[in-house]
Amino acid sequence: MKKILVTRNLLPENEKRVLDLFNATLNKEDKVLSPEEVISLSKDCDGILCVGGNKFDKEIISKLSSSVKIIANYAVGYNNVDVDAAEERGIAVTNTPEVLTDATADISILLLLGASRRAYEGRKHAEAQSWNWSTNFLMGKQMSNKKLGILGMGRIGRAVAQRARGFGMEIHYHNRNKLSSDLELGAIYHKDAKSLFVESEFLSINCPATAETTNLLNEETIKFLPDKAVVANAARGDIIDDRAMIQAMKSGKIFALGLDVYNGEPRINKEYLKLDNLFLLPHLGSSTKRTRIDMGDRAIDNLEVFFLGKKPKDQVN
Ligand code: GLV
Repeated sequence: MKKILVTRNLLPENEKRVLDLFNATLNKEDKVLSPEEVISLSKDCDGILCVGGNKFDKEIISKLSSSVKIIANYAVGYNNVDVDAAEERGIAVTNTPEVLTDATADISILLLLGASRRAYEGRKHAEAQSWNWSTNFLMGKQMSNKKLGILGMGRIGRAVAQRARGFGMEIHYHNRNKLSSDLELGAIYHKDAKSLFVESEFLSINCPATAETTNLLNEETIKFLPDKAVVANAARGDIIDDRAMIQAMKSGKIFALGLDVYNGEPRINKEYLKLDNLFLLPHLGSSTKRTRIDMGDRAIDNLEVFFLGKKPKDQVN
């Protein structure tokens, strides 16, 4: 039986399968393991099933036991793993695409709506039970029939587009490559991000975190957005320059922001927390029972296939 380290608790359905298939070291207390703990607990393991919060940079990878041949990430994003460093050491890296597309697209729409309809301020007024209804009370920005820019038109971006069509929105997108018309479904392609921003009354960020997308929304590029734009980020915190965004939210350039992901999460830039025009969630993108079970199964499938000597279909390096 192959030996693996599982860095966080899995749902019972996944845990049972892991224990049936592998000699698995579990983290019963479900505490966040430090890199040193991951290195030492995996020292005689053949593989590691980890989560996005486990960082595997070049240095950490260089300290992993040579027995470790696969890192199966329980997430679609894998910016926590230096895949080139892993490849250099002959370690396969896999992720869990497809299964979390719908759940994450739902959260993107929730962020857009929560931000544009001022859900955070609304909750505060409702809790205080003292609001005074008036015709101009907490007026939001309506999504219906507006232009939606989607940054990153992969599976999740396309699922956001599908939902946004229900609001009558005109869909624009920027992606490395233009999609075929059967995937575009009428969405308008922008070869560069700035041209997308110009059209984006609403902007949904759904691209991976890479060197190219780090701080893609910054002091200079935010200026391209229409005044009073609404922005939602369900991808990775790194894509927004927080300082520039906070400034734009204060000046009114940005009407409201919806965030599920943060630079350096779970910490959040304290300046954000002073702003009423922020609707925020604690990284819930894939957090439904069905999706989390499917993510676990996908990560386990990848380990199983790999240990049979085949290339897992989700191998990213
Ligand atoms: C969640 O953020 C994921 O990448 O799966």
